[in-house]
Amino acid sequence: MSKSSKMFSDAKKVIPSGVNSPVRYFTPYPFFVTKSDKSSIWDVDGKKYTDFCNGYGALLLGHRRKEIISAVSAQLKRGTLFCTPSDLEVELSNLIIKNYPSIGKVRLVNTGSEATMTAIRLARGFTKKKKIIKFEGCYHGAHDSVLVKAGSGSAHNGISVSEGGLDEVSRNTLVVQYNNSQQLEDVIRKNKDVAGVIVEPILANMGLVLPEKNFLKDIRKITAQNDVPLIFDEIVTGFRVSSGGAQKYFGIKPDITTLGKALGNGFTIAAVGGKKEIMNQLTPGGRVYQASTFAGNPVSVAAGISSIKTMNKLGNKMYSKLERYCAALSRAIDDIATDLKIPHQINFSASMFQIFFTDKPVIDYHSSKNADAKKFNKLFRHLLKKGIFIAPSQFEVVFLSEAHTNNDLNKAVDAYSTGLQTVKH
Ligand SMILES: Cc1ncc(COP(=O)(O)O)c(C=O)c1O
Repeated sequence: MSKSSKMFSDAKKVIPSGVNSPVRYFTPYPFFVTKSDKSSIWDVDGKKYTDFCNGYGALLLGHRRKEIISAVSAQLKRGTLFCTPSDLEVELSNLIIKNYPSIGKVRLVNTGSEATMTAIRLARGFTKKKKIIKFEGCYHGAHDSVLVKAGSGSAHNGISVSEGGLDEVSRNTLVVQYNNSQQLEDVIRKNKDVAGVIVEPILANMGLVLPEKNFLKDIRKITAQNDVPLIFDEIVTGFRVSSGGAQKYFGIKPDITTLGKALGNGFTIAAVGGKKEIMNQLTPGGRVYQASTFAGNPVSVAAGISSIKTMNKLGNKMYSKLERYCAALSRAIDDIATDLKIPHQINFSASMFQIFFTDKPVIDYHSSKNADAKKFNKLFRHLLKKGIFIAPSQFEVVFLSEAHTNNDLNKAVDAYSTGLQTVKH
């Protein structure tokens, strides 16, 4: 019996399903990790994996990036929690605002879920309206307003509305099709009570689904014309697709933005920012309540400052290398699947990609759900055997990090190549 298998049986006795987040679960058992460095992680049985899960996108700079480790180590000597303001918070807020010109003020929180929950409450408080519009398959965290037709683990586990969530809440979340701006316009026109529209500018929680050519521009226009705040959930795309996120990449200014994941490169930090008049609604100056003991804690903030400074220093060189690597890997896998005559699609953008086993383009929730998830699962298991770790679900994406090397890519191509042969049979 492997050590991971034994640890998983112990874990199941004290942790529901043995995992602290559902996407980490897969059968027969997930591997237990002891350490990580750059593009690699090692399990308790001594096996090394090249990590393409990358903290579900958080580790843009790879594991244990030296600048971040040294900033955090230095902070540990100065204190871990003050619960009174520190100049570090001002420095980080200024860095965020400089990278994201749509943001006039920003509040630091701990997780992406907290950030989107606050963004939605802000939109409601600011407009004095109730309804939120989200897009099918977008995942915005584990809270009631957004756990409606959500992607990620929610789609993987076939949960359309979470049990325990209140109908009274989900009824106020209207869902429209991703890449369908006409449907958004119709729903806004029919409902005079819309407080905000929240969207993943690149949908990274149904596999990878790209926004069609004018989709983001159109939804910006529609929301502006109807005075409905537009929330860009950039928890995944922020700092990943460019230093200024998807909004810089596509040239669109949302009213509210959420950031997380790569903001802390492995440390627990997220942020919600937006126009000053909206952000000023937050307590104590305003009447929209938001609070957290750990918000702005100096360890995570030190990680955030160091992350942004490092990402900014590496700049275009890093982003174009990541794009090049991601395109090369995606195209290599595409070619192999084509040669093997396996019906498939590959969607890729910046440093993210996903393969779908279907002959139809994947452009939304339904087309993603129609892909053959069993085949994907077979591929996942083969990759794992070969020491390539990707997220264990069709509804996640493969993430590259700055730490990946040419050698890592070659290893991945070899593993996908033999893996796709097993999928064919
Ligand atoms: C787009 C998006 N928004 C929000 C969240 C929630 O973030 P967290 O898991 O940090 O609560 C996620 C998590 O994967 C996400 O992908």
